Amino acid sequence: MKTDRDRRVVRAENEQLLLSGLDLVGRVLGKDPKEERRLLELDPGFDPRDTFLVVLGGAVISHLRLVRREMRIGRSLLRLAVVADVVTDPAHQGRGNARTAIDIALEAARAARYHCAVLFTELPDFFSEQGWSPWAQPGCSITPKALVIPAAQQRVRDFRPGDLSAVMALHGHHGSAFAGPLARTIGWWKADLQRETPPGEVLILEVDGRIAGYARARARRRRPEEFAILDLAALDDSGQRSLLRELVRRAHQRGFTSVNLQGPTAGRLAAIDPELGRMTELRRDKYTMLKLINLRGLVRALIPEFEAICGRDGSCGDGQISLLVGHLAAELSSSTGKFEISAPRSNKPSFLQLSEGDFWRMLFDGRVPPTAPAPAAAMLGMLFPEREFAFWPADEP
Ligand SMILES: CC(C)(COP(=O)(O)OP(=O)(O)OC[C@H]1O[C@@H](n2cnc3c(N)ncnc32)[C@H](O)[C@@H]1OP(=O)(O)O)[C@@H](O)C(=O)NCCC(=O)NCCS
Repeated sequence: MKTDRDRRVVRAENEQLLLSGLDLVGRVLGKDPKEERRLLELDPGFDPRDTFLVVLGGAVISHLRLVRREMRIGRSLLRLAVVADVVTDPAHQGRGNARTAIDIALEAARAARYHCAVLFTELPDFFSEQGWSPWAQPGCSITPKALVIPAAQQRVRDFRPGDLSAVMALHGHHGSAFAGPLARTIGWWKADLQRETPPGEVLILEVDGRIAGYARARARRRRPEEFAILDLAALDDSGQRSLLRELVRRAHQRGFTSVNLQGPTAGRLAAIDPELGRMTELRRDKYTMLKLINLRGLVRALIPEFEAICGRDGSCGDGQISLLVGHLAAELSSSTGKFEISAPRSNKPSFLQLSEGDFWRMLFDGRVPPTAPAPAAAMLGMLFPEREFAFWPADEP
């Protein structure tokens, strides 16, 4: 493969480099660089040095950004690096520029003690060739139509600035009740609510005059016919139903042809509202990709009860680790995307080879592969309990 020999990968240490990167993103993906710059400033986790650029002869030819996020799994909060806006100047594509930028950014993420990386892409093949695993998340599309909204003690209205603290409390409560949604920090969400939002994007549910839910939805810039629900949380199913119905009604009024929903509510929509369920097509999103950054750190964060964790290779990478939980012990090891898990030595030793996809499913969903032999399966079932796992969609507008 041809390469751009004199290229350098740099971090956006100064404003000029950052803006050159955003200009490239603008040219390749059609985003408005000024608007993107403004949105970055609103993210409390934003650090210009998280932008990685390939520079050749003074010009930026590749760009990507690591976005700091958290992900909740059970009681644990994982550090998650979202890889965003991977682009290469069309004149320099096919020369390993994007791959080099990704490798260096992931190395930096490992040094910064992230547990895993995630990205949302329309090019799954490009990333799976580089060792990323696809994660199918539930999603659905609702075809909007005029809906009767029953008059009740529940009222859905537009967000007002004075609602902020109640919405923050709901956001935290809702996030902790689920095992796994991609949890934006409260700080990020607060900043998002304080942006100028077109009316109707953030809805508030009131029950008996108290705030009992909220939802946030907007048109997708690149798919303007689609109304995307980005957040939906209410104290109970009937509140979720009211918010969903109001969003679908508004989408119909404004001429959208579909309302899209990902995240934990999507798979339960028919149970929450059978009429909406009949207007809905369920799908699996194939384009969320995950990559492990630090196996030992991830396992330690997920299962804090382990009495001891020792790394065999002495490094912080993806090498072999042993875990001890009371009288239980397990060994996990990973190399080139294959994981091996062995049962405690005191039991009959049995080894289990997992693909990386199976490994993620076990960690995030508690689905122990059916091929696991009995003693290992029982132990794994305890270590990785069943849980519901779903991402909220990416934060990009
Ligand atoms: C995707 C993109 C970033 C790749 O940049 P790049 O610098 O050309 O990538 P690299 O040179 O490091 O890697 C190129 C390799 O990826 C492969 N590739 C590129 N696009 C691909 C795709 N859609 N599906 C599968 N493989 C793909 C090429 O075949 C090439 O493989 P090869 O070296 O074996 O021939 C670039 O094509 C781009 O900017 N595309 C438009 C923006 C976009 O869609 N970005 C993804 C957002 S997540």
